Amino acid sequence: MSDVTTNPDEASAPPLIRARGLRREYLAARKEPFARRTRTVALDDVDLDVAAGRALGIIGESGSGKSTLIRLLLGLDRPTAGTVSVGGRPVEASASARALHWLRRETGLVFQDPYASLDPRQSVGRIVSEPLRALGIAGDHRARVAEVLGRVGLDPAMADRYPHEFSGGQRQRVALARAIAHRPRILVGDEPMSALDVTVRAQILDLLRELSADGMTLVLVSHDIGVVQNLCDDVAVMTEGRIVEHGPTARVLHHPAHEYTQRLLAAIPVIPGR
Ligand SMILES: Nc1ncnc2c1ncn2[C@@H]1O[C@H](COP(=O)(O)OP(=O)(O)OP(=O)(O)O)[C@@H](O)[C@H]1O
Ligand SMILES: [Mg+2]
Repeated sequence: MSDVTTNPDEASAPPLIRARGLRREYLAARKEPFARRTRTVALDDVDLDVAAGRALGIIGESGSGKSTLIRLLLGLDRPTAGTVSVGGRPVEASASARALHWLRRETGLVFQDPYASLDPRQSVGRIVSEPLRALGIAGDHRARVAEVLGRVGLDPAMADRYPHEFSGGQRQRVALARAIAHRPRILVGDEPMSALDVTVRAQILDLLRELSADGMTLVLVSHDIGVVQNLCDDVAVMTEGRIVEHGPTARVLHHPAHEYTQRLLAAIPVIPGR
């Protein structure tokens, strides 16, 4: 067997997310005197399958390509080479925002910083209902906002308030409510908990675990091995733009096959027993 194991569910169901041969290069202008362009390979020949209902954690050092991979999976950026499909539908072939409407419906995204990601001029109700309007989803948006605020543990009456009235943890709940308002099948988080303190982090972790238990597919970038260990069925380990190891969480964390994973984990204590 190779180092890069595929998802164990692959044989029974086609993956919800499939990436093949993904490459992303960046060309950056170099300063004088030569002004030549330098090439960064942010992603290098990445294959990835995520089966519906699984929770995948992506770990790896800073600059290893985690955010780049996520942007490509979400169609927020285009690969230099390779393909992505979601639900069997190609992502990279559709260029315009309009053409990617179907993908927005399938996905919700939570970022690291709940302070930067919420528009301070809009009420919480307006923020949370934004995907419903943007995607042209019919129905009673107020009712859906109330429902989804309740889902993330906030009082539905908070819909009339503004982000500055909330703590960091409450704001991240608002961001989570917005991400799931349109009932996406896939929730993607790029370090969604790293800006939060420990107690609040545990609460958001519980919420994500509930969403996962309800069948939502999760793709979560995290520096926090504890979060991955608690939440994720599978882990993909990245370094230098590649996935060097991908498999069930307990196997990867307790019996890492790749030397890079061993070094990464040696630097971080892993709680035994899972
Ligand atoms: N817009 C860009 N222009 C040029 N280079 C970029 C750009 N975005 C990312 N890179 C480079 O691509 C590589 C991968 O970056 P990426 O942001 O995907 O890493 P990451 O694993 O998410 O890191 P972190 O853990 O710090 O968020 C890095 O070398 C980065 O400098
Ligand atoms: Mg990143």
